Amino acid sequence: MSGTLYIIGTGPGDPQLLTLKAVGIIERCPVIIAPHGSKSGSSTALGIVSEAVAIAGKTIIELHFPMKKIRTGHEPAPEILAAWRHAAEQALHHLDQGHDVCFPTLGDPAIYSTGYYLYETICGIREQVKVIFVPGVAAMSSCSAALASPICLGDEMVAVIPATFSDERLRDVLERFDTIVLMKVHRVMDRLVELLKSADLIDRAVLVEKAGTSGERTCAKIDRMTEPPHYYSTIIVRKNPSTVRTLIN
Ligand SMILES: C[S@@+](CC[C@H](N)C(=O)[O-])C[C@H]1O[C@@H](n2cnc3c(N)ncnc32)[C@H](O)[C@@H]1O
Repeated sequence: MSGTLYIIGTGPGDPQLLTLKAVGIIERCPVIIAPHGSKSGSSTALGIVSEAVAIAGKTIIELHFPMKKIRTGHEPAPEILAAWRHAAEQALHHLDQGHDVCFPTLGDPAIYSTGYYLYETICGIREQVKVIFVPGVAAMSSCSAALASPICLGDEMVAVIPATFSDERLRDVLERFDTIVLMKVHRVMDRLVELLKSADLIDRAVLVEKAGTSGERTCAKIDRMTEPPHYYSTIIVRKNPSTVRTLIN
């Protein structure tokens, strides 16, 4: 009998935010396939898992997934497709031997995560594969907690968008939504600051870096940052002022 593939959200960094369900499944899985974004780097998701679960004795496969822009409806770059295919084949190899495999992914698998690309690739190779998704705490939830500021209340509308999108698309989203969660901001800060200034929203934008970790930092003056923030940074633009104090510095 084939094994089951579990695609598991690890939360954004604090191992205590791994769910009990995630911990139980990872403990039982003999094989972990973990993604990492930089060629020479290590997997952040695996790092989080290893702080909560004893992983010694398990088969650990760390795979590089190139970080390149993916646009819905457009064919991804060949190296991305090759990485997904390779990961899918590795997973199927172990599943076919009857072993359960888990694929931990940062935050929640439903939000800009490799987990669903792996899922789609596997389903494209083999129709009958048992895959179970385990949700995790999304980075934006941890950022909101760090700020003690809601993402949305009442009838407010929210957009979640990578800040790497075109100026035109970002301007449109900044205009139409009450709260805008900007992800992957680290390389485009100058451009973002200009866009937020021209939309008169610079004072409503707060950046949270490494939310939920010992390196957590919040910044409400993003136009005065002297260094680019870490890749694990998110900006929340909430147009409606909070009714209570927020925890920003
Ligand atoms: C590929 S996306 C992964 C999102 C993840 N699946 C989720 O549910 O939040 C990576 C982006 O998530 C955000 N992110 C991840 N971890 C974070 C953290 N600890 N603090 C702030 N933002 C984080 C950053 O915007 C980063 O560029």
